[in-house]
Amino acid sequence: DREKRVAVLAGDGIGPEVMAEALKVLQAAEAVFGFRLQCEQGDVGGCAIDRHGHALPAGTLSLCEASDAILFGSVGGPKWESLPPEQQPERAALLPLRKRFDLFCNLRPSRVFPPLAGASPLRSDIVGDGFDILCVRELTSGIYFGRPKGREGEGADERAFDTMCYRRKEIERIARKAFEIARLRKKRVTSIDKANVLTTMVFWRQVVNEVSRDYPDVQLNHMYIDNASMQLLRDPHQFDVLLCGNMFGDILSDQCAMMTGSMGLLASASLNETNFGLYEPAGGSAPDIAGKGIANPIAQILSAAMMLRHSFGHEAAARAIERAVEETIAAGVLTRDIARDPAQAVGTAQMGDAVASRVRADD
Ligand code: NAD
Ligand code: IPM
Ligand code: MN
Repeated sequence: DREKRVAVLAGDGIGPEVMAEALKVLQAAEAVFGFRLQCEQGDVGGCAIDRHGHALPAGTLSLCEASDAILFGSVGGPKWESLPPEQQPERAALLPLRKRFDLFCNLRPSRVFPPLAGASPLRSDIVGDGFDILCVRELTSGIYFGRPKGREGEGADERAFDTMCYRRKEIERIARKAFEIARLRKKRVTSIDKANVLTTMVFWRQVVNEVSRDYPDVQLNHMYIDNASMQLLRDPHQFDVLLCGNMFGDILSDQCAMMTGSMGLLASASLNETNFGLYEPAGGSAPDIAGKGIANPIAQILSAAMMLRHSFGHEAAARAIERAVEETIAAGVLTRDIARDPAQAVGTAQMGDAVASRVRADD
């Protein structure tokens, strides 16, 4: 059983800051559980454009191909926003990586940490004793990838277009994932669509209904995206698993993250049919706070825990990291975004240290 290889792509903005803390916590887990990861860094995103002229240099792609998982930070920022759109970090690096490895299944868990209930912008009677929602987002199709896509014409006739397209097999495989995962949870799936307007979404709803026949033990309901956005704020406890297409999942997962208190808390796993995965915070490079050492590293740390669980089968180590995060939060070691009193907030590295020091084997 050879050492597992991890391609570490920290990227831009707060990416390298929070990645340093995730690596620290992974090292603590290696020491406690006696396994070794072979981590190798690669350039990606805007910093790779600056250094190599391309957001996803060939060397970085081959590093990923030779690895068992990718631990990803975030890419993009104001410095690269004036480049032609298809050269920008998001479209030239992140989306191609998702497509290249067929990472169609994006899991984004948003769970309230009880000591942080007060950090949620929702009223305390709505947060209650905390909610636990898993967004299962289709990640390699839909309007992000549909063809044709482009711009043409000029003057008053100038136009731009994207195509939303879903194939039966694409809907089937993500729906199956949602039902399988719901079986391990509260057995409820809410499929999000816009079947009242979009033909693609009429098809989505139909195929999800067909797949649901194989899961009679799981309760399925359908909800329009606009209503779902509202219902999440009104009563998040009604949800267990949200099954979403690419764009609606993008939007609702940011909303779910903030409902738990901060964008900096939402981890994610992007998986294909093997155990290969890309693990990244759902948030971005946060240019407004980059370079200040104040970003919340928890989303990156929890993404590393998801990597141990989903790609490497290290459930005990994943749990130990999650527990260390819970204990750190309970101890009141909090970055500015989630601290009750900003004067008491700690920096990114202090929070990483606090989590790493709490990684233990015993239950
Ligand atoms: P963002 O998620 O980077 O930031 C939104 C807000 O959330 C900001 O106020 C930011 O400070 C805050 N935030 C995010 N992560 C945080 C953390 N860990 N700790 C504390 N606060 C945090 O979204 P944006 O501003 O719309 O995007 C900035 C750039 O990041 C854009 O170029 C965008 O395309 C890119 N982006 C990249 C990814 C990715 O690489 N996976 C994801 C989303 C956005
Ligand atoms: C996310 C991000 C990406 C997306 C962007 C940066 C391409 O917002 O992972 O949520 O839209 O999928
Ligand atoms: Mn997003």
